[in-house]
Amino acid sequence: MPTAHRKVIGAGGNLAKIGRLATDTEELRVRSPAHAGKLPETTLLETAGVALKVALPTIAKGVIIRRPRMVALAEALNLDGLAVRTVQRLRGRYGEGPLLLRGLRRALVLAPDDLRRVLNETPEPFAAASDEKVAALAHFEPRVALATHGPKREPRRTLNERALETDRPTHSLVEPLVTVVEYEMGTLFDDTVERGATIDWDSFNRAWSRMVRGVVLGSDARNDEALTDMLERLRGRVNWAFFASKDKKLRLQFHKLLNEHLARAEAGSLAACIAKVSTSRDEAPSHQVAQWLFAFDPAGMATFRTLAFLATHPEQLARAKREAGDRALRREGQLPYLRACFLEALRLWPTTPMILRQTTAETNWERGRMPKDTSVLIFAPFFHRDEERLPFAHRFAPDVWLDDNREWPLVPFSGGTAICPAHNFVPMIASAALAALLGGRRPVLVKGAKLGPEAPLPGTLDNYALRFRMEHED
Ligand code: HEM
Repeated sequence: MPTAHRKVIGAGGNLAKIGRLATDTEELRVRSPAHAGKLPETTLLETAGVALKVALPTIAKGVIIRRPRMVALAEALNLDGLAVRTVQRLRGRYGEGPLLLRGLRRALVLAPDDLRRVLNETPEPFAAASDEKVAALAHFEPRVALATHGPKREPRRTLNERALETDRPTHSLVEPLVTVVEYEMGTLFDDTVERGATIDWDSFNRAWSRMVRGVVLGSDARNDEALTDMLERLRGRVNWAFFASKDKKLRLQFHKLLNEHLARAEAGSLAACIAKVSTSRDEAPSHQVAQWLFAFDPAGMATFRTLAFLATHPEQLARAKREAGDRALRREGQLPYLRACFLEALRLWPTTPMILRQTTAETNWERGRMPKDTSVLIFAPFFHRDEERLPFAHRFAPDVWLDDNREWPLVPFSGGTAICPAHNFVPMIASAALAALLGGRRPVLVKGAKLGPEAPLPGTLDNYALRFRMEHED
């Protein structure tokens, strides 16, 4: 398959295009009669290979809350690179159609058109609320949209979309939100750089968490570390979703405290947006917001990784600093290049590597049938790091995200009807944080993986090991 004319598509304002491509794939399916037999299936040995080399490292790193030691191990052993090669080999052997994993009731998606079909035909017949997700999220947010199937999904999804203004590249509260971001990144500088210290993961993450509480719930919540701690304890149980019992008492306490913050509906925060757009109890606002607080964690990891890129890629850093230097653009959230750099960090190291769907009916494909109740696996790194298709697979190539005509699926925020409703909001906040960090200083990576324009980028980047010195500009 030629790479030169392949275009790339993904999160970042491309919903319309995803829709257009869906029509194309529907036409394709109508033209190609369904195959009478079952889809091709792996051998049991190959299934074991996928379980060991693809699923296990993803689970071991921690799906709902990361295990830092496993992330370090994944970087050292390049486990994510190995996972991509495992899936590439299966595509080489079986071709591009969906592939059933014998003995597991699971299927791997291997072709861009099939990926689009699955994401666009969510929630029927490809339910987003797979058994795994429902079991995991029940520990702390059982009524979140992501774990809801059936008639209640729609009001919950709509609340998310309206409060986060999903389709707008820049949220209407951009000004007060950027003020919060700049204030917290300034405090990070005061606590570290101004005292001659470096910025490491712990100091960054503390500031990031304060910022997240400020953005979501308002400045009165910025110091409420107990709220974040409770959520982390609940999330910690989820890494063993099917085995650990639920801590219902803690869950209740957490939602009570969260609801108190939401009830303030502090002006300039997302809580105020919820108060404005919420229409019914079915929406379960505190369950949606628990997801927001939780999902800002990976956004912090990707922001920190982006800083590592910029510190080690002088050309891109110069461009980013030029953009960050314009105060008016910063206040308006108009930082396209920094957004692209952040999205690129998510392409290279997707924080949701496995997008899951579960079939609610038997589905027909060109090469055969997929049974009902099959877990459909979209392994994002396979699409993002496929050097057999993408010439820039292992390079830092933010310009890919500035190309409006991209068609190759890059899906850090998923896509189609269940696309992350914060797929514009998150890059807006992350780019504002990066601009604040870069203002007047040059980041130097003093600890962590060796990165640079010459060498291919590693399959995993351990964010916990990164440490920066912020130097005065000459
Ligand atoms: C780097 C940061 C983030 C990434 C990479 C990310 C990615 C994703 C992905 C891949 C999904 C799954 C969609 C699917 O199953 O197809 C998702 C769902 C979701 N995300 Fe995000 N997300 C991020 C941050 C956030 C933040 C900060 C918020 C809220 C402020 C948020 C809100 C949600 C919600 C509510 C859902 C469920 C949507 C539904 O089921 O309809 N995400 N996200």
